[in-house]
Amino acid sequence: MAGIQVELWPREEGGEQEEHITVQEKGPVENGRLGSLPAEDITDFIASPGNPSAYAGFVRGIFKESPGLSPDDKIWNLLAYLEDETDFYSAPASTRYHGAEPCGLIRHSLMVLANGIKLAPLMLGAETDRYYLTVSCLFHDLCKVNMYEPKTRNVKNEKTGEWEKEPFYAVRQDYISFGHGIESLLRLSRFISLSDPWRHAVRWHMGAYDLSPLDKMAMDKALTTYREVLFLQTADMLAGVVDAV
Ligand SMILES: [Fe+2]
Ligand SMILES: [Fe+2]
Repeated sequence: MAGIQVELWPREEGGEQEEHITVQEKGPVENGRLGSLPAEDITDFIASPGNPSAYAGFVRGIFKESPGLSPDDKIWNLLAYLEDETDFYSAPASTRYHGAEPCGLIRHSLMVLANGIKLAPLMLGAETDRYYLTVSCLFHDLCKVNMYEPKTRNVKNEKTGEWEKEPFYAVRQDYISFGHGIESLLRLSRFISLSDPWRHAVRWHMGAYDLSPLDKMAMDKALTTYREVLFLQTADMLAGVVDAV
């Protein structure tokens, strides 16, 4: 494998192209390792409960350790926004399925990245863009940010016969969305301009779980055009459905 490769793409519409070195440079993800980040480090980190600031620090660390990432890369704006204005690091991943607990969303997102690191050599081949891979795996569920609120309900304790308050998560009354994958893509695109394969990967990451007949035609085309679509669906299902994270 050659050393650092530089990718060119227009950062501003109508502006000049400038050099952008991807998160740990462009190239294959080998032996379960993304640059200096092994998938095992992620799964070890989320194996024990953390708090929102620990998760936020871990995610910052993933990008800080990338040697070619510019200090004015838009990723820093996205991370600051998530830390300061959202519940990304404390929210659940769902109300009743996987990760229906505090910090469930970030734990799921990190698990999808860990799965992605392991799957990439098989599913994406040699020229994986690690920046897009990292961003897409970590933020594929941005539609769930500021979506849930904690509530309590009365539940009868079968042993004592007493009514007790039980916490649960509900979707906020004011939550509005263009649809799961599209909402995630729209929110992410306010900060990061993905390439088309990764746009489709985020858009279609729910696979057959969230499809109208016309969506199915569109997703079939995306699946056969871009390997990244099946890649992100698989990384997401392994985390959410198989491992329930
Ligand atoms: Fe999702
Ligand atoms: Fe997900």
